[in-house]
Amino acid sequence: MQQDRLWNDWHPVCKADELGDDPKQVHVLGERVVIFRNEKGVHAFKDLCIHRGAALSLGKVVDGKLVCAYHAWEYDEQGACTKIPALPCERPIPKKARAVVYHCEEYMGLIWVCLGDEPEELINYPEGEAEGYRTIICGPYEVKANAPRIIENFIDVAHLMFVHEGMLGDANHAEVVDYSVDFVDGHLTTSKIPVYQPNADGRSKGGYTDYVYQVLRPTVARFTKTTEGSDEEFTILTAVNQEDNEKSRVFMLLTRNYELDQPDEPYREFQDTIFYQDLDIVESQKPELLPLDLQAEMHLKSDALTIAYRRWLSELGIETGTLPLDEEKLERMKKKSAVK
Ligand code: FES
Ligand code: CO
Repeated sequence: MQQDRLWNDWHPVCKADELGDDPKQVHVLGERVVIFRNEKGVHAFKDLCIHRGAALSLGKVVDGKLVCAYHAWEYDEQGACTKIPALPCERPIPKKARAVVYHCEEYMGLIWVCLGDEPEELINYPEGEAEGYRTIICGPYEVKANAPRIIENFIDVAHLMFVHEGMLGDANHAEVVDYSVDFVDGHLTTSKIPVYQPNADGRSKGGYTDYVYQVLRPTVARFTKTTEGSDEEFTILTAVNQEDNEKSRVFMLLTRNYELDQPDEPYREFQDTIFYQDLDIVESQKPELLPLDLQAEMHLKSDALTIAYRRWLSELGIETGTLPLDEEKLERMKKKSAVK
């Protein structure tokens, strides 16, 4: 089935500033994960102490080590147990006393986790690092839906005029012109798609704006909006962490190269409003797993991007959305991860 690709991909689990001195429990693809920070950076383990199975996230970080709350076994960031208080000091710590280590990185103000042994490259978000651009984080938003449904909603052009009427679209300008979708540098990208925006970003400027969408990963997509005759760029990068079969957590990076000295709050409020307009729709969609058989739903030419997205997921071996996991393969991957 499908899980290798996602198992080896990076998933945003929380905002970097949500991870303070204490360890934190997060969930990725049904796995319970603990993340913590020490002077060497951020780290992720399976949230399970090998001694008696307690959640390591209940413990604390002392001198850079993650200390289990139950019997105070200490783990260094490589997962090795370095202290077992109950063990008389002449006895060596058993080699088996280890935590299962996952990959963990901090990037663009988010903590990212990869469960697999062959991690994909972390995404690259040049606007987020470029001078003259300002990025804010919106969310995380909790959604009772699978990640592909959420990504597909984000890259769907033809809903803007209805779900976001008066803000991102106008029902009297609902036609979507033909656009192209190409696969460039490992991701899907569209040509410019003009959309009439009555109130782009809450700034009350009616007119056509061009959207260029890109799908960077199965669960990460972005668009940039520009307007002819203006240097202003507005980008949203959406990264979804499918926590388990029931829910996902959505992070959005909003980047602008204008109004840099203006408060961020109106942007955040605008985006929250937009997001909650989408929520009921996305949570209502059946089947929950994105149908990758193109016969299963109906498609128009204006759906070219979402059709390409479904095809790409198929090619990646992601057959039916992300979950449920193929139990046998999952066990195999877990074992692989444990042997480090
Ligand atoms: Fe963690 Fe005993 S369960 S130290
Ligand atoms: Co929407």
